[in-house]
Amino acid sequence: METTLMMVCHCMGITDRDIRAAVDWMRASDPATIVTPGKVYRALGKKADCGGCLPHFMDTLRQCDSFAVPANLRNLRRVVEPETWDVEVRSHEG
Ligand code: FES
Repeated sequence: METTLMMVCHCMGITDRDIRAAVDWMRASDPATIVTPGKVYRALGKKADCGGCLPHFMDTLRQCDSFAVPANLRNLRRVVEPETWDVEVRSHEG
């Protein structure tokens, strides 16, 4: 079966296959990693230029099977009520 490559980043010549391969490699080398476009560019040895591809880049990332945040890292945020914040309020005046 022949697959068609789709150019995602024209500035750097990155295809959807490049992105999927980078995400799979990143996930295989560190299962707990959080995949970001910047990390994908670095994994491919490239650097974003105009940024015009970012929406398409993100769509391609979201379609990768191994893009999701690892299950053990989900729901780590906890709600902290403001009255329990341990902060000192300082005035910015004077
Ligand atoms: S099209 Fe990707 S950085 Fe310009």
